Amino acid sequence: MPSTSLPTIQADDEWSQLRAVIVGRAANSCFPSEPLHMIQATMPEQYHGHFQPNSHFPKYVLQKADAELDQLANVLQQDGIKVYRPDDVDWYAVGGYTAAMPRDGLITVGNTIIEAPFSWRSRKREIDLAYSGILTELASDGHLTIVRAPKIVGTDTIYDDVGKPQGGLVDGKYPWAVNNSRPAFDAADFMRFGKVLIGQYSNVTNAKGVEYLRACVPDGYTVEMLEVDDPHAMHIDATILPLKRGLLVYNPLRTSETALRRHSVLHDWELHPYPFVPKKRDSPPLFMTSEWLCMNVLSISETKVVVEEKDVEFAEWIRQFGIEPILLPLQHVHSIGGSFHCATVDLVRDCGGS
Ligand code: ARG
Repeated sequence: MPSTSLPTIQADDEWSQLRAVIVGRAANSCFPSEPLHMIQATMPEQYHGHFQPNSHFPKYVLQKADAELDQLANVLQQDGIKVYRPDDVDWYAVGGYTAAMPRDGLITVGNTIIEAPFSWRSRKREIDLAYSGILTELASDGHLTIVRAPKIVGTDTIYDDVGKPQGGLVDGKYPWAVNNSRPAFDAADFMRFGKVLIGQYSNVTNAKGVEYLRACVPDGYTVEMLEVDDPHAMHIDATILPLKRGLLVYNPLRTSETALRRHSVLHDWELHPYPFVPKKRDSPPLFMTSEWLCMNVLSISETKVVVEEKDVEFAEWIRQFGIEPILLPLQHVHSIGGSFHCATVDLVRDCGGS
């Protein structure tokens, strides 16, 4: 039912009770075709050869991934959460990638939904093609602002002269795979902590992109950048995970307590490094990510979190914080780029203000 039955779009953290969410779709997803230097910077080495124009992910992966996403949608619906699904798109025909990773392209900040100005050329039309139906439906909510990404006029310059030091470096350390010639960010490079967003510069998020996001967030919101040590950085949601107000889990190979404490919103939080190294899995292949996807969970509330059913070690570990893991399969979605956090966008949470 349209917005009459839906609470006003509103979410500015990652943990408050979830009321409405987008769950992605895998059908027709293709390996994103980007310049080799971008693939080398962000994708696991053994699979680089797969990232060719118009090359589908294996059929069995896509079929199983869609079954997993449908199951996730059903479980959330049964829990009383309103679920939106993207439109079907033939990604092969349009030279695109997927509708399975909505987190990368959309972020809800308060009463505003912001579309990411993607750096990848294969993703430029992703929101238009797959999410216009949802955005049109949501637009009938008179309190909602939707900020669409700026159109690129003329030729995209984002890959010109890459490799030379440009803006978007952390302490000048990495020559990222994009330059700083126009705003670029992926929404999944940011996490919401109430009035503060914490993000990372990465191979898809540059300094102009961060400035642009600062201009888009509603009044009273600020964007801070975390120091992350990850030359392959692309999306912060396998690096930090706020599980509830006052408790954050982080990947100690990529960031540190010292870096996290610099953010005053976290000054009195419990910060826990995940103490195990997650196991690599070869089947189905992790074409696009590391095994740290175990941290890429979707919180339904401060006590209930959806975790991949094979990530038992992680699921058991978070119980000590009073969190009940709900185990669901998502291995085939992992194969095409991400886990529960990547595959969803929360639209409504009962955020108590901050
Ligand atoms: N780049 C991260 C890793 O390999 C995975 C992040 C996935 N996130 C996403 N929103 N697609 O560990």
